[in-house]
Amino acid sequence: MIKSSEPPLINGNFKGKDILSISQFAPKDLFILFKHAQKMKKIALNAKPSNILLGNIITLLFYEPSSRTFGSFGAAIKQLGGQTVEIQDPQHFSSVSKGETLEDTIRVFEAYTDAVVIRHPITGTAQIAADIAKIVPIINAGDGIGEHPTQSLLDLLTIYDKHQRLDHLTGIIAGDLLNGRTVHSLLRGLAKFKSNTMYLLSPKSLQLSKEYMEEFTRAGIKLMVITSEKDIPKNCDFWYWTRVQKERFTNLKDYEKVKNTFIVTKELFETRAGTHTILMHPLPRVGEIHTQLDDDPRAVYLRTQIRNGVYIRMALLALVLGKLP
Ligand code: NCD
Repeated sequence: MIKSSEPPLINGNFKGKDILSISQFAPKDLFILFKHAQKMKKIALNAKPSNILLGNIITLLFYEPSSRTFGSFGAAIKQLGGQTVEIQDPQHFSSVSKGETLEDTIRVFEAYTDAVVIRHPITGTAQIAADIAKIVPIINAGDGIGEHPTQSLLDLLTIYDKHQRLDHLTGIIAGDLLNGRTVHSLLRGLAKFKSNTMYLLSPKSLQLSKEYMEEFTRAGIKLMVITSEKDIPKNCDFWYWTRVQKERFTNLKDYEKVKNTFIVTKELFETRAGTHTILMHPLPRVGEIHTQLDDDPRAVYLRTQIRNGVYIRMALLALVLGKLP
């Protein structure tokens, strides 16, 4: 395995690499992945068995709850003929409950399987797991409030599918920008492309951290902090809404105060979005987007956005396991 304390750059070659951060991907790597995701879509839709991952077993090691990421990784692997070892909630249902260390857990599952997909509540744990693993690649499926690189890959693909570009975009990113790892990865990804302007809408206490503001701005993205729906520009290419991350609050009263500060209603979307605007959400939603919007063709969160999660993970796993030319 290619190991270092910094996530390795993809640089056109995915084979054997840990996938820990969107920072590893140059624009050309994203386009390689998108091209393969298109082929994966065909495989997934034609319901014929594929042998691309035949003989491969992949561990899904999830220390935090998950529906889409866990389910779509599982579906992606099975679409390609591979198999999974699934450990959910290891704090209760594995030797972790007996006090086993992360080090031993990772060493065990890399002995059993060909890759380990890990979700963990503590930021940086995917990198630690990658430093521990000696043989197999580690894939970050969300580390605390850090990153969620595979979510941003599918988010970027969804934007690209609609607009055929990832530069010169105007978007709004709303909700919990402080704790939302999908937001951090998405902004870091969009900052790799020219002339992107993102409007950031959140309660004051959940604004993007100063460190991230500086990092992303330095990388070249224009960030505009707004505090009211009235400031949403009418020319957005996408709206990316997120939920307030309840599990990151130590005091539930503080959560109650800020949850659902900003809600997308039919009226808001009708008055401030354009015909070309897509409405995105990484899900789960807990009231931030009214269900009346679900049938609006511009609402992609229950359509292309979730489907792309399977296709992009199929492509990524096949590339990382060296199964595609
Ligand atoms: C996100 C996550 O886990 O960070 N969910 C997901 O993977 N689609 C977003 C969230 O939980 O709010």
